[in-house]
Amino acid sequence: MKKTRASWSGSVAFVLAAAASAIGLGNLWRFPYLAARYGGGIFIAVYLALSLTLGFVLLVTEIAIGRYARQSQLTAFGELGHPKWNFLGVLATLVPLFILPYYNVIGGWVVRYFAAYAGTAFAVIAPAADPKAFFDAFVAAPWAPFVAMCVFTAAVLVVIVLGVKNGIEKANLVLVPALLAMAVALSVYVATLPGAGAGIRYYLVPDFSSCDNVGKVVLGAMGQMFYSLSLAMGIMITYGSYMRRRDSVPKAAVRIVAADTFVAVLSGFMIIPVVVVFASAGAAEGGRVAIDAGPGLMFETLPKVFLSLGAAGPWIGLFFFTLVLFAALTSAISMTEALVAAVCDFFKTSRGKSVAVIGVWSVAVGALSAFGYGRWSSLKFFGLPPLDFFDTSMNILTPIVAALICVFVGWILSPKRILAECQRSGERVGFRLFYVIMVRFVAPILIGAILVSEVCRCLGIGGWTI
Ligand code: PFF
Repeated sequence: MKKTRASWSGSVAFVLAAAASAIGLGNLWRFPYLAARYGGGIFIAVYLALSLTLGFVLLVTEIAIGRYARQSQLTAFGELGHPKWNFLGVLATLVPLFILPYYNVIGGWVVRYFAAYAGTAFAVIAPAADPKAFFDAFVAAPWAPFVAMCVFTAAVLVVIVLGVKNGIEKANLVLVPALLAMAVALSVYVATLPGAGAGIRYYLVPDFSSCDNVGKVVLGAMGQMFYSLSLAMGIMITYGSYMRRRDSVPKAAVRIVAADTFVAVLSGFMIIPVVVVFASAGAAEGGRVAIDAGPGLMFETLPKVFLSLGAAGPWIGLFFFTLVLFAALTSAISMTEALVAAVCDFFKTSRGKSVAVIGVWSVAVGALSAFGYGRWSSLKFFGLPPLDFFDTSMNILTPIVAALICVFVGWILSPKRILAECQRSGERVGFRLFYVIMVRFVAPILIGAILVSEVCRCLGIGGWTI
């Protein structure tokens, strides 16, 4: 008996789920850092232009592939009548397969900080006097990062076991609005702090003097856009496979891009004034302040700022890490779902068994990253700690998958198939020519440029560190 595929209960549920996947650590810790570094308003403008064009096109493509095939990324390409391209499904599955375990480790770090701030806010434990020392001691501790990762992973798996409608949809219904409300509230709070105006100007006003290299800004914005919109990871294909035929793909894509970009820009309002003005972190570099990227920003710089806010600090910290926790959870849920769906579709097995397989995989492979700065610190892959190695490899694999998807759709499958899928909801698609030009020429060329730069950087023969 052929089981009917799970589906979202409506277009709102789908947009919420896809936006929940897109809005994650990338919005909170990477976008503000890039904007601060690459000319403020200039970076924001380039990012907006790219996400509304290229981001929109790629999102429509992945969602439509999933909805047409009614399969996860692993088996979708074969289902479209091109079994030779099944290898692309395998590549697209490798991305979440290797990102998920270390994303869960970082999720575990967020759990640890959430618990620490809850402790200090409720005066159960004293705040860490030196946030950097706290972070270094935590990631090097014998068991703590692993245990924290397991807690985070367990929370994700519970939602996945409950299924598409009862688990993912319901979790998003609570987590996404809460996340948005917290992000708006924190930005408003930061704007009222004395001196915030200078930080906001720093973030928004274009600074042409810091933008001597336009290529770097464009590539940086494009790489960020891929990660932020969860593109080339199979997720939007899997989520699209649960979408109802009568719902509009382009409308959903516009809303997802809008929600993701809104939170990215809002994160800048939350973080940049705080870091630039209150912590005055980092040395001026080429006229701009160099703020920490990634873990350094979230787990060291911001906690230093919270410490300087006095009695309000622990509460602001707790609020902030609750927001980060929700963002990380919903993104990890999407990756786990893409993998669970792939196992279900490929092995035709039950959801429960697939969740068990993916759970064991995440914990086993995640352990490498969790212990990688502590008890297994001598373990290195190509000279890098496991977490950094997986992250770097995925930065290369993602543009390869994205470029191949464009080549496949543009030159093998035909863009008409994607446009026809978009028209199934009965609407007129007004961007046909634009779509064809983007998917056939513009996207592969631009994505190819990211790839060449990344590969050169890894080989140490040039390329840009962004
Ligand atoms: N898009 C998420 C972010 O901006 O943080 C991250 C992410 C989600 C990455 C899902 C990978 C993924 F498969």
